[in-house]
Amino acid sequence: MLDLTMRNHHPWVMLVLGGRGTGKSQTIGSILSTWPKELGSTLAIDPRAADPPHRENIGFWADRWRRSPPDQLEPDTALVACDEATLILTGRRDEKPLFRELFLRGRHMGPRGADGRARGISVLMGTQRPIDMPRTAFTQADRVVIHCLKGRTDLERLCELEGMDGTPAGAAALRMIPSLPAGFCVVWDARQGIFLPEVPGWRR
Ligand SMILES: Nc1ncnc2c1ncn2[C@@H]1O[C@H](COP(=O)(O)OP(=O)(O)OP(=O)(O)O)[C@@H](O)[C@H]1O
Ligand SMILES: [Mg+2]
Repeated sequence: MLDLTMRNHHPWVMLVLGGRGTGKSQTIGSILSTWPKELGSTLAIDPRAADPPHRENIGFWADRWRRSPPDQLEPDTALVACDEATLILTGRRDEKPLFRELFLRGRHMGPRGADGRARGISVLMGTQRPIDMPRTAFTQADRVVIHCLKGRTDLERLCELEGMDGTPAGAAALRMIPSLPAGFCVVWDARQGIFLPEVPGWRR
């Protein structure tokens, strides 16, 4: 059984991928709502959230939420989750340099020069278009949760994940991903390998 919050590996970098309406925000909400409080507090960034956030907005499940990245994080922050991350990461390059550092490299220099990873900040990014995600976000990911994705270029990007291309588990995952029903996902984990979902009525 996969521990969604990866408590044993904190801090981590996780990506949540999938087309429109495939279950990304729900997955991010589950992680936020089961986050172990002893690790610290959670911040959700969601450019499209209602104010106050609804249950469908990830901000509903976090200790704090914002529409855009703050300049600094509260000192007890242990998880920053960002929905629609490419909206932010493909924005102006000179904007929010600390935030970009955190998301692109999993590092964030705090006000006193403390490194975000050393401080134990996990990063969770959701996006509809993995191809728009900077490559560095992919190469540093500890886990990638993949909901239904149909675009050829997006699927090709997945092949860059170790074991996705040229292994039986990877081949099975790539066959399943374009037709996964909403709420189902393949999980690629850097340490534990590839997990395929049990979809009722499907034969692998
Ligand atoms: N675990 C689940 N089980 C069953 N249905 C689900 C599950 N997760 C999501 N869904 C269905 O999929 C719909 C879309 O989910 P969600 O809002 O999480 O998708 P999304 O990928 O964030 O979409 P968008 O790209 O539009 O933001 C939900 O309203 C729900 O009906
Ligand atoms: Mg969503």
